[in-house]
Amino acid sequence: MSYEVTPWEVSGKVDYDRLIKEFGVSRITPELLGKLRRLAGGLHPLLERGFFFAHRDLDAVLRDYEEGRGFFLYTGRAPSKSPMHIGHLIPFLMTRWLQERFGVNAYIMIPDEEKYLAKKVESLDEVEPYVRQDILNIAALGFDEDKTFIFRDTEYIGHMYKAAVHVARHINFSTAKAVFGFHGETSIGLIFYPALQIVPTLFEHRRPLIPCAIDQDPYFRLQRDVAPKLGYYKTAELLSKFVWGLLGPGTKMSASEPETAILLNEDPDEAAKKIMNAFTGGRATKEEQRRLGGNPDICVVYHWYSLLFEEDEKALQKRRDDCLHGRLLCGPCKRELAQRVKRFLEQHQRRLKDAEKKARRMMYDGKLASKMWNWDFKPLQPREE
Ligand code: TYM
Repeated sequence: MSYEVTPWEVSGKVDYDRLIKEFGVSRITPELLGKLRRLAGGLHPLLERGFFFAHRDLDAVLRDYEEGRGFFLYTGRAPSKSPMHIGHLIPFLMTRWLQERFGVNAYIMIPDEEKYLAKKVESLDEVEPYVRQDILNIAALGFDEDKTFIFRDTEYIGHMYKAAVHVARHINFSTAKAVFGFHGETSIGLIFYPALQIVPTLFEHRRPLIPCAIDQDPYFRLQRDVAPKLGYYKTAELLSKFVWGLLGPGTKMSASEPETAILLNEDPDEAAKKIMNAFTGGRATKEEQRRLGGNPDICVVYHWYSLLFEEDEKALQKRRDDCLHGRLLCGPCKRELAQRVKRFLEQHQRRLKDAEKKARRMMYDGKLASKMWNWDFKPLQPREE
């Protein structure tokens, strides 16, 4: 079956094993996870359960940390013409967890031009309300306000432009075309944009670690060619799979198709109803399910429990066993998830109420933000790596 994974298009049933080979990234080994567990004092369920499944140079990040050189975190969100969905939270939750465990700085880019340049929206005005909403959604997650810098491109561009020029000088069109599949109808803005997405990896003179889904890897593959030429570190990456949409295993969660996704600004009761209609691994009848058991491996409801809504490993295992042995039917299982999703949204939406103040600190006057408004890029002697 065919599929496509680019930073602007994800479609079809993704073959992650093949993608690892195609992209040239590495699978996260049990040894590496063990080391991360030891240094972090535990593991986030998204790592424990293999949702973050691949990486580049995570071993080097941990070595840098152990040897006192440290590292920093970078991730981002490109606002579009619809609100963020629950899947979009994943890289931010991982970034927050890593920040908490390692006490490091985190940089969060809001490229408010990317979706327009990629011709996913018709105007910058259309994106504007979501820029604000997205920033608040991210600010509400509880990042360390003095160690986090959130910036939107159209505002911070004056500080990034010089570095972007240096980056862009080192990327030939033929390379960018091969990496991103640019063609005759691609806007020249999008062709330059990768230089900008690379810039935050140069914010500090140590190794960046980027938690994101694997669709963003092409940008950072280029970064790894360019950064050493400018005297900076090749970026490391911690890569996740994609959260399934509500319509079935491997389907996409698309904020513009409401029946496929739970949106962060959604009415919690409506969200609960959507969960009740989600695709499950259940049998045609209750009787059959009791006799033959259900299939959690193709069940969206179980998938969501395992990613975001059941932290307790034992409880998750019990849910799985009870399903497989026909002791748990889809109705109660869905009802429980619907309640948890509802509570999650209610809590998130309450937190949004004081996210404005947090966002201001992380954008303008927190410790890291204040420093970054004086940031000026300087190329250094090329690095050997
Ligand atoms: P964007 O806005 O398309 O997506 C934001 C982040 O969410 C991840 N993601 C998902 N993760 C899990 N399940 C899904 N279904 C899912 N859909 C999207 C994306 O991989 C991304 O990490 N170009 C970027 C914005 C950006 C960025 C960055 C991202 C700028 N700098 C640095 C990562 C790191 C974009 O359009 O993301």
